[in-house]
Amino acid sequence: MDTFHFATDLRACVSAWRCAGARVGFVPTMGNLHAGHFSLIELARKHADKIIASVFVNPTQFGPSEDFASYPRTLEADRAGLATHGCDALFAPGIDEMYPFGVAETVRVDVPKITEVLEGESRPGHFAGVATVVTKLFNLVQPDVAVFGQKDYQQLLVIRRMTQDLRLPIEIVAAPTRREANGLAMSSRNQYLSREERDRAAVIYRTLCAMGEQLHAGRSHMAIEADARAALEAAGSVPDYAVIRRASDLCVPGPAERSGLIALIAARLGRARLIDNRLLVL
Ligand code: PAJ
Repeated sequence: MDTFHFATDLRACVSAWRCAGARVGFVPTMGNLHAGHFSLIELARKHADKIIASVFVNPTQFGPSEDFASYPRTLEADRAGLATHGCDALFAPGIDEMYPFGVAETVRVDVPKITEVLEGESRPGHFAGVATVVTKLFNLVQPDVAVFGQKDYQQLLVIRRMTQDLRLPIEIVAAPTRREANGLAMSSRNQYLSREERDRAAVIYRTLCAMGEQLHAGRSHMAIEADARAALEAAGSVPDYAVIRRASDLCVPGPAERSGLIALIAARLGRARLIDNRLLVL
């Protein structure tokens, strides 16, 4: 597996693939890779002939009080894991390659509306940072298809919207969430949790499942959300939100809406802020 740090080398490799008639698949990441990330590589393989992953801890999507400086950086282990999982190339740019005029003066990509709720409310500027870096990565790699995890459901919707609105000829594929045995969604940030907190964090997925069951049983959205918050608090976590939304646009559904819905949770546990979601199929 080749590793590229510079756009010119990356472009030469992708053009050679394309000249040979290959369909190019892309999996962007911030590294510290786990089985969830590797499942994206495996899914990409089903949609493309050549797979490129990127590892770049993107400063513009972190708030001033967030964990940019301490975010785990494990490039050598990531490289080895990607090679084992059949990735063909890795793009691991330095900050100057992604932000040649500096972070403060970068061109920004702002996706309105869908970015203003939930994670957007809790993390102002986060999605502008994501949309900006993914646009740059899409321009550099020029893939035919790119894979994103449903784990970050709002991010997936933002990327879909941005790709359509900027008329980028890239297919966006969603990958199911990989979980630990206790239901906890795999995440690089799980390593901020102690063993005991990891066990307790199972409450998030348990609560998402309970929200689905209660919807099935005909309870109101408001009652379900109130119970979900109480369950999260009882397990010692601090919920940012525990809500039922429309899966297509994350708007608040009308009280009689029962289909096309999704439950989403963000909660703090110890040092970590964890997010997860579950489509509610009736
Ligand atoms: P990162 O958190 O490294 O995640 C990279 C990709 O892996 C995302 O599409 C995310 O949804 C997916 N992923 C994470 N955990 C997963 C799990 N347990 N199961 C399945 N997929 C999972 O998301 C980002 O990086 C960044 O915002 C990025 C898009 C790279 C832009 O900087």
